[in-house]
Amino acid sequence: MLYQNTQTKGFNARGSTPKLTKCLLILMLAISLVHSSEIATLLKTPRDEKFSSEAFLPDKFDAREKWPNCFDSLPDLKTYSSNDVLPAQILSERFCIMDPSSYNIHLSSQQIVECATEGGWKYLSKNGVMTKGCYPDFPRKTVCDDKCLDNKAFETRYFAKGLRNVTYSIREELMAKGPVSAPLKLGASFKSYTDGIFSDCGGARGTVETVKIVGWNREGDVPYWIVSTNRGSDWGENGYAKVQQTVSCSLFLEDAYAADPKI
Ligand SMILES: *[C@@H]1O[C@H](CO)[C@@H](O)[C@H](O)[C@H]1NC(C)=O
Repeated sequence: MLYQNTQTKGFNARGSTPKLTKCLLILMLAISLVHSSEIATLLKTPRDEKFSSEAFLPDKFDAREKWPNCFDSLPDLKTYSSNDVLPAQILSERFCIMDPSSYNIHLSSQQIVECATEGGWKYLSKNGVMTKGCYPDFPRKTVCDDKCLDNKAFETRYFAKGLRNVTYSIREELMAKGPVSAPLKLGASFKSYTDGIFSDCGGARGTVETVKIVGWNREGDVPYWIVSTNRGSDWGENGYAKVQQTVSCSLFLEDAYAADPKI
């Protein structure tokens, strides 16, 4: 009787121990699965996605489709630095996006090239620039001055405001206000890119190049950014390229920037 009781008790106890253990095992397995899939996602997705995953974001977006009147053909300015050229272009587009009926302007990249000492965005924020009508891309001046090419009177300067690091909100920023500038690490073959999804990050030999991001999309499992450069409309797909979103190419997205038109 005592033995049976013990047996029964013992059995019950043993019975509940395996149950508990099973529960724990399943729980631990579940946790480790969640973790490994999280890690897999982190390895696959660019850094900015870690932080914007909670917001609702569509699978694809293209600023050129959302604001078709604000994107012109791209001038070939590859002899200039993209850090100078692209902010002027982006700010021009953002003026149009904000108020298309009032602003159809093309801000001077050359003025930034000749005058800026700390990059296009800072110059646009502190000094502002004139339009290309006054300060055209070519012929290239060699000195910074405030006069229009034909010595016409001083023209209005257009400024940027609210310069900000948009590293973790590239997509939200694009959808709300237009293109952003961001550095990507790219292989040398990017210079001769013609079409398709570019995926050569160049490994140790990759060079960092600032591009203008106008959107994103995916082809099958491959997500990509839609970007343009300072190489003009004859390069790539009418001046644009699809660049695969991978951690190694996107490492430098850490320094994505945008600013608003100052009106
Ligand atoms: C921009 O923000 C990202 C994310 O916070 C950061 O890692 C990066 O260093 C910032 N860049 C600069 C130039 O401050």
